[in-house]
Amino acid sequence: MTAGVPVIAIDGPTGSGKGTVSRGLARRLSWHLLDSGALYRLVALAARHRGVSLDDVAGLVSVAETMAVQFSAAGDDEQIMLEGQDVTLALRTEDAGMDASRVGAIPEVRAALLERQRGFARAPGLIADGRDMGSVVFPQSALKVFLTAAPQERALRRYKQLSEKGIDVSLAALSREIVERDRRDASRRVAPLRPAADARVLDSTGLTVEQVIETVLRWVDDAGLTT
Ligand code: C5P
Repeated sequence: MTAGVPVIAIDGPTGSGKGTVSRGLARRLSWHLLDSGALYRLVALAARHRGVSLDDVAGLVSVAETMAVQFSAAGDDEQIMLEGQDVTLALRTEDAGMDASRVGAIPEVRAALLERQRGFARAPGLIADGRDMGSVVFPQSALKVFLTAAPQERALRRYKQLSEKGIDVSLAALSREIVERDRRDASRRVAPLRPAADARVLDSTGLTVEQVIETVLRWVDDAGLTT
């Protein structure tokens, strides 16, 4: 990681609005963006492409270390390439999320992705979106936010997001999957989903994206991160 580059960690569960808020913050501050969830999704997808089983730890580590991925710059329409193939849509399905949660529970895979994630920290700053950004990957973050929302609201947001992308899902199935993914993410041995001790918790239930972004920007100011 580039020493001295400020990092803002945005952690929280599925559907908490992390992705949208992180993208908005990166745009407003003109900082870089790390979508760490996409990296876990990419490991699982690349493994499937290569015929590597999601139980094959050594195989998954090799995929995590060698997969060629490319993210479009924050501010553009998001586009993610895997080995030269556009996988933007394939990555967003609930199956891809469940697969990511499975590979994310494997300590060796998390370790293999650590340096790749830290490499995203570049001047003038990084918005790091994930589950363990403040607790494990960037413990020195200048600001740590743990974003959450009531489970029902999270399922509904996710439903709208997927519907807009033309991905067909049922709200009931989505609610079940969100609860299941939360349980797995919060109970795993390594880097379980929970706020870092020094994180500021923000419950976004009933708030608009703009209100959440404004709140975080006030904290960014308080932390003296803006010039
Ligand atoms: O945020 P997103 O839904 O894309 O993440 C997919 C899955 O990847 C999560 O459910 C979680 O299991 C895993 N993940 C993780 N650590 C991160 C980001 C995501 O374990 N920093």
